[in-house]
Amino acid sequence: MSERTPCIGGNWKMNTRSADAAALANSVVEMTDRISNVDVVLFPPSIYLQEVASIASGSSVAIGAQDASEHPDGAWTGQISVGMVHDVGCSHLLVGHSERRHGLGESDQLLNSKLRAGLDAGLQVMLCIGETLPQREADKTAAVVVEQVKSDLLGVPREALSGLTIAYEPVWAIGSGLTASPEDAQEVHALVRQTVASLYDVESAHAVRILYGGSVKPDNAADLFAQEDIDGGLIGGASLDPGQFQAIVEAAGQSCRQC
Ligand code: 13P
Repeated sequence: MSERTPCIGGNWKMNTRSADAAALANSVVEMTDRISNVDVVLFPPSIYLQEVASIASGSSVAIGAQDASEHPDGAWTGQISVGMVHDVGCSHLLVGHSERRHGLGESDQLLNSKLRAGLDAGLQVMLCIGETLPQREADKTAAVVVEQVKSDLLGVPREALSGLTIAYEPVWAIGSGLTASPEDAQEVHALVRQTVASLYDVESAHAVRILYGGSVKPDNAADLFAQEDIDGGLIGGASLDPGQFQAIVEAAGQSCRQC
């Protein structure tokens, strides 16, 4: 249970067609009319950002891009810039998802540039971190996440931290049906917060929301969100199902101490 307002992100990844995206966005907007104590952010595929942002316009649902270039506008074929993300009505940017780190080989140095570009453009950045299964089995979880936090936040000033959310997503838990136990996840979240405190200060670290991601479903959400340093979730598969997504958002609302 946290004192921070919980946040639930729906990462649609490379799923939906235009009509599905619109229907899903409409159902989330409708659902959030009845839930006021959770911040909800949707991350649709970039080609549908404008459409989904216009559906969410005027509601409490925020929209974000799953990725953007570290470069400003220019000759970068196939890329989208943070300025474009902002321009189509988005307020958020996902950086460092494991499918980009490990599937597409994005380095901490690149992710640091993307994160800074996003913050400089006035976007709220959700930074994803997490260890792979071999790293976990070799007892390197702590070292990996601490290194990711330190490298990815390099050069980010304290004033910019209000635009940052961190999502701890153990790579082995993503899309696998396996989840970190609430206690294991809490241990990593506390370590992440401690790392942010060591880079900045305790007060700033206390204010940063740290979400858990990796096979979060309606039946495990409440136990995860009950942990002190787990401030909500970044949801993949279950965010494509309006009923499951709603149940997870409701679980986050119930976990909030002061909402
Ligand atoms: P799943 O919820 O499908 O495991 O995906 C998690 C995730 O990668 C969210 O970014």
